[in-house]
Amino acid sequence: MGNSQAINLNNITVYIEDGLDAVGKRAADVFCSALTDAPTAAYGFATGSTPVCLYQELIARYKDGSLDMGEISAFNLDEYYPITKDNDQSYDYFMSTELFNHVNVKPENRDIPSGEAPNPAAECLRYEAAIRARKDFKLQIVGIGENGHIGFNEPAATFPATTNYVELTESTITANARFFDSAADVPKHAITMGVGTIMMAEQVLLIATGSKKSQIVRDSILGDIDPQVSASALQMHRNVTVVLDTDAARDLLAQL
Ligand code: GLP
Repeated sequence: MGNSQAINLNNITVYIEDGLDAVGKRAADVFCSALTDAPTAAYGFATGSTPVCLYQELIARYKDGSLDMGEISAFNLDEYYPITKDNDQSYDYFMSTELFNHVNVKPENRDIPSGEAPNPAAECLRYEAAIRARKDFKLQIVGIGENGHIGFNEPAATFPATTNYVELTESTITANARFFDSAADVPKHAITMGVGTIMMAEQVLLIATGSKKSQIVRDSILGDIDPQVSASALQMHRNVTVVLDTDAARDLLAQL
């Protein structure tokens, strides 16, 4: 596979791939090997521009008959609050258009925090309970924010243990404004799996691409374990796979 490179750093396997296609294929290989092992398990999906290359590859594998997601349960990391499901910026809408409309995950086996729930605190409890009820949370896909957030776990004094209602930081609102008409249209809150929720998955697959992520990828993997960088908690997880493109890997490689 092109100029692929694999590095082992404690519990973390880091793949460095040349180009988005190769990142998508590598991430799909990791996902599919989990799926082969546990075809009826719960899987956690992620939004953002980063996992799109993975989803395109999963769709291609479904179309050529080599992928079957018919028995999995699908959870999602997070959702803006408030937002309606039919808003084209909702993560619910994103997952439908980018993946679920094109593969065979059963609609009744999909769950995502609701941006329409009347009471966000109650919705956090419902969602956390739904995940904890599963004893087979096999794999969670995560991207990473420029400030190191996973899901929407923004820099904080402690790692959030459970699904929580958060106020988005200015930096996240600015980073995500590119998808909206203006920064003023970005919802100010979100419901997100906690870092502890993510850590319950048997395996975590982190994908990062582009030079904007290079520094935070290095800090997350090699820096202190610090709730100011929520991705750094993954250093404590026993089974993490990281897939990077060469741009996102630059600072990490420079420090090895
Ligand atoms: C959002 C999401 C994160 C995502 C991050 C990075 O804030 N809540 O889950 O990882 O954006 O997005 P992108 O992949 O577009 O850089």
